[in-house]
Order: sequence, then structure tokens, then C-alpha cells
Amino acid sequence: MTQLLHLTSPLDAQLWATERRHEGSSIALAPTMGALHNGHAALMERAAELSDLTVVSIFVNPTQFDRSDDFEMYPRTLEDDLRLCESVGIDAVYMPTASAMYPAGFDTTIDPGALAKRWEGEHRVGHFAGVATVVTKLLTAVQPHVAVFGEKDFQQLAIIKHIVRDLGLPVDIIGIPTIREDDGLAMSSRNVRLTPEARADATSIKRGMDEAIGRSQHASDTSQIAEDVTSAITECGGTVEYVAVVDPNTLEPMMTVDRDAQLLVAAWFGGVRLIDNARIPVHS
Ligand code: PAF
Repeated sequence: MTQLLHLTSPLDAQLWATERRHEGSSIALAPTMGALHNGHAALMERAAELSDLTVVSIFVNPTQFDRSDDFEMYPRTLEDDLRLCESVGIDAVYMPTASAMYPAGFDTTIDPGALAKRWEGEHRVGHFAGVATVVTKLLTAVQPHVAVFGEKDFQQLAIIKHIVRDLGLPVDIIGIPTIREDDGLAMSSRNVRLTPEARADATSIKRGMDEAIGRSQHASDTSQIAEDVTSAITECGGTVEYVAVVDPNTLEPMMTVDRDAQLLVAAWFGGVRLIDNARIPVHS
């Protein structure tokens, strides 16, 4: 096992990264909010493949939570997280405090633009401004050559790629396919808050998506797909927040599947909000 370095302030991280870059090492960053699971392990392993040195950031970012109860109840499992980082062979963990990230008088926000307006952005007002701002700060501190993000947060990944492009940030953003439990449920830090019953019901998200995608044909009506996924979820006791079929690049709604599309889902099970997504390939 490697010795895991703890970086606890933006300045610490910047000094470390500047020195490592000077020595010629490449750096990869896997940004997380902790409560690490096997999905994160996959992110970290990919990050390690892409660079000489791998940093995991662990910061439960208050500014991206639209509900204070969600922030308070967000699982915090630091000791387990550090053990996982060690076992994966991570070089450094960046764990800034909230006051180091947001010192008194902090008053600057990245506005992530049109991609952030719909779907998660509409249902979690301010969420993506919080994500955009904290990710920009994490990238500035750790100065990675590459940063990895899960495709489970499809809209987040699209927004981060767009910000990096628009601001000309010198980092490659890599998406990592969603890691799932054996029954199809997408791995998420929030899954631990599901009761066993809600946990079983929540598998209807992936099942509903798979069935609807399986039925889709060339130029299928997207409202039918959304209806099918919604029924699968509600029949299992879930409450749908949105089901959308969108252009994978613009995230604008599509009327028919006349080209590859992305299915986006947000639903509640037993008081826990889950999101998932899947590609709908166009049939010729
Ligand atoms: O996906 C997450 O865990 C968070 O949104 C991120 C990217 C670490 C920013 O806080």
C-alpha cells in the first residue's frame, strides 16, 4: 500500500501539485463528496491508469445542496473512504474544510449557462452553480492533467465539459460508465439511505429504462418511452420527478428517436431521490 498524503487546504494542494508537475509527473483528479463505493473505486482506478499520480478530493460541498436536510443527511464515512483510497493506491487525498473553500466574504459563482437550466437544474435550483464553482476550485487547487467523473451524473458531466471548454481550463474531462449493483441499481452514496423495501423497488428505474429502450424503434415517439419508464417506476411505489429523452450533447428534449438519444430519470423511493440515465441507440 502507498502512503496516502492528506492535503487539507487549497494552498497545500497547489504547492504539492506545482512541485509534482515541475518534476514531470502527470496528475489525475477524481472529485468526490466521500461516502465512497465501488462506483468511486472505478473512477479512481481509471484515474490511476491515466496518470502518474492520482488525487481523490473528498468535500461535501454545501453550495450544491438545494435542501439543507439533504446536506445534513448526506452520508459521511471518512475513515472507510480513506481506507478505500489506500487500498486503490491513491497518492493524495484533498480534503479541504468548508471555511478553506469558502472563506468569509466568498462571493463568486460560476454560472453554468443553458445546459444547467433543465432537468436537475430545474428541480434543484442552484445545484449546478454550486457544482460548477466547486469543481472549478478543485481543478484550480489540484491542477490535474485529467479529471474523471461518473456518467451516472450525465448532466453534471456535460456541464463540466462545457465549462472546461468555455473557460479554457487545461484539463481533460473523462466520463466513466455507471457502475451498477447486480440487480441494476446505479451505485450512489445515497443508496445507503434506502430501506430494504425501497432499495428493491428502486431497481424498477433500470428495469423500466431497459424495457422501454428494448421496445424503441427507429423514430419512436419519446413521449411513449417516457410514459413507459414512468409507469414502471410508479407501479413499484416510486414518485417520478422527471423522465426525459434528450439530445446527448445539448440536453434539449427530442420528440422522436431519429438519432441517438439519452434517457434521463429522477425519481423518489422512500424519501430518497435517485437519478439514472441510459443511451437510446437509434435503430436504422
Ligand atoms: O458528483 C459529485 O460527487 C459532486 O457533484 C462533485 C463533482 C464532487 C462536486 O462536488
